[in-house]
Amino acid sequence: MPEPAPITRRSRVRELYAHPLGRDIVDSLAHQVGRSPRWVDNPLVGALRLGALPRLSGGRLDDAFVDALVGLLAAVPDRPNPGPMPLREAWFKEAVFYQVYPCSFQDSDGDGIGDLRGILSRLDYLKGLGVDALWLSPIYDSPMDDMGYDIRDYRKVLAEFGTLDDLDALIAGLHERGMRLVMDLVVNHSSDEHAWFREALADPDSPYRDYYFLREGEPDTPPNNWRSFFSGPAWRWFPEAGVWGLHLFSSKQMDLNWGSERMRADVVDMVRWWRERGVDGFRLDVINLISKTPGLPDGNETIGALTGFTGLEHYFHGPRLHEHLRQLRAEAFDDPDCVAIGETPAIGAQMGKLMVGDDRGELDMVFNFEHLENPGRTRFDAYRYDLRHLKRYYTRWQADYGDGYWMSLFFDNHDNPRMVSKVDPRSEHRVAVAKLLATVMFTLRGTPFLYQGQELGAVDQRFVALDELRDVESLNLAAELAATGTPPDEVFARVLAGTRDHTRVPMAWDASGGFTTGVPWLAGDGGHAEINVASQEGDAASVLEWHRALIALRRDSPALVYGETLVERSGSRVWRYRRRRGAEEYLVVLNLGDRPARTAPPPAGAELLLASGSGTGSLAPYEARLWRLG
Ligand code: NOJ
Repeated sequence: MPEPAPITRRSRVRELYAHPLGRDIVDSLAHQVGRSPRWVDNPLVGALRLGALPRLSGGRLDDAFVDALVGLLAAVPDRPNPGPMPLREAWFKEAVFYQVYPCSFQDSDGDGIGDLRGILSRLDYLKGLGVDALWLSPIYDSPMDDMGYDIRDYRKVLAEFGTLDDLDALIAGLHERGMRLVMDLVVNHSSDEHAWFREALADPDSPYRDYYFLREGEPDTPPNNWRSFFSGPAWRWFPEAGVWGLHLFSSKQMDLNWGSERMRADVVDMVRWWRERGVDGFRLDVINLISKTPGLPDGNETIGALTGFTGLEHYFHGPRLHEHLRQLRAEAFDDPDCVAIGETPAIGAQMGKLMVGDDRGELDMVFNFEHLENPGRTRFDAYRYDLRHLKRYYTRWQADYGDGYWMSLFFDNHDNPRMVSKVDPRSEHRVAVAKLLATVMFTLRGTPFLYQGQELGAVDQRFVALDELRDVESLNLAAELAATGTPPDEVFARVLAGTRDHTRVPMAWDASGGFTTGVPWLAGDGGHAEINVASQEGDAASVLEWHRALIALRRDSPALVYGETLVERSGSRVWRYRRRRGAEEYLVVLNLGDRPARTAPPPAGAELLLASGSGTGSLAPYEARLWRLG
């Protein structure tokens, strides 16, 4: 294939669209405004030069923006493999993953904090649900400024969670049951209490000095204009050393410098150490952020205003990202059975393909987040999520991801409120919405990731005051809004819409909780008295049994795992797709709205396997139906 011409200000919009990052940007903008990106095919639009965008945008985009865009595209020379690639079968494609948030799953010693022994005691529940692999959020030693995503010692377990022996017992318990363990690998940053950072700060000649981004300077002038994801500037002043330190997240999470060869070698060592303990894979926290533009230049203000994060273009897909990922794969988890799942905020479909393509030697899957909010919305907006967005998003990705690429499928995790509540907070629709989302997760092509409580249809919490919240992101945002004069009730409403604490509350095992005999570390009332494991187990109409049935069906159906996805034409409020492999075929029909909807009957001879409503005639609000066609 001829080398694509480099993108310059004189390049045309159609060349931009032929570039993976350019295409992601255009697709995402089109998606945001609810338009098809195919307008790029219009010869007039396609022929526009990038340099003309400021004039055509009526001043909304400036020359500096075009330069930043061109610079970004120039930094991505790779293209996804356009040729067909064979479908590679793998355990992680067939598996159902379940994310455990250690603080809140099961407490075994009554201190109100979940722990490893508690998790061990619940493995039979997970096995019974049909879970194949457990993804454990961080259990490492940490001051817990960001709930363990600020690691003080990568080779030690936090005392409240237990010991390394407990972890070994958990690994053995999982393996005995034919299940696997995926650990969180948090190496974009470490805690400011990590020994590396303490030494780097204390001694300018320390070998650890270049493990971080430390810059000498003046207390009033941060080295650049980058903003932190958790409010305020991305720089913290350390008066004792007269230096600034870079932190893209909380001021206690110091960014590691992946430009340092020694730092990378230490990370590789540490990962190998965990592999030797029997860990089966890793979920790599914000892994696309690890490579930063050398020199850490200022971020473009327009990009900052558009995304909310000034500086983003200098690290969301840095110049050495692929090189670093390949090194990790080759040196730390070269075994094809070791799964590597990248958490990759701000990465679109095409750039994702550059990380997960079978020809790339980097990651197996990524978590992308575009489907979690409706166009133009952010997590901190209170609104009703329109499921038509989900249909458009997955239709696009499923069509685009051929046999050489694999997707993750998820809705809930520890960083987001409950999807069920976002779609429809009315309790009379909870069960139907939860079943619809589960149907999507277990019948599309990709690996499903459940988050604890999702299998029960858990909802957001009725927090009543800010002081009930624990999450650093929420508390920083509240402080920032208050400082700019936002009235307290508005501050609370905004934080409540998006707080990560909604999903961080303890798991509800029975009507009285069943999580701890002590006082739970995080309170919250999400209707646990009704929405709990004990009340749903054995009840055929429950959300929990719906999950069990879907998981069991998927396990026995190669078409639901590996089959192609064929979207059928339907009204916009109905989503119909088939999954087919060889002679095995299924039809899924979903009502995306809160009113009954008409849809064509299935082909003659179809066998109805599951229906969350009556299964015949018009679809009830949010009804999901699944047929076997052959
Ligand atoms: C993503 C994690 O999921 C989130 O909980 C954390 O705050 C950030 N990365 C920073 O580690």
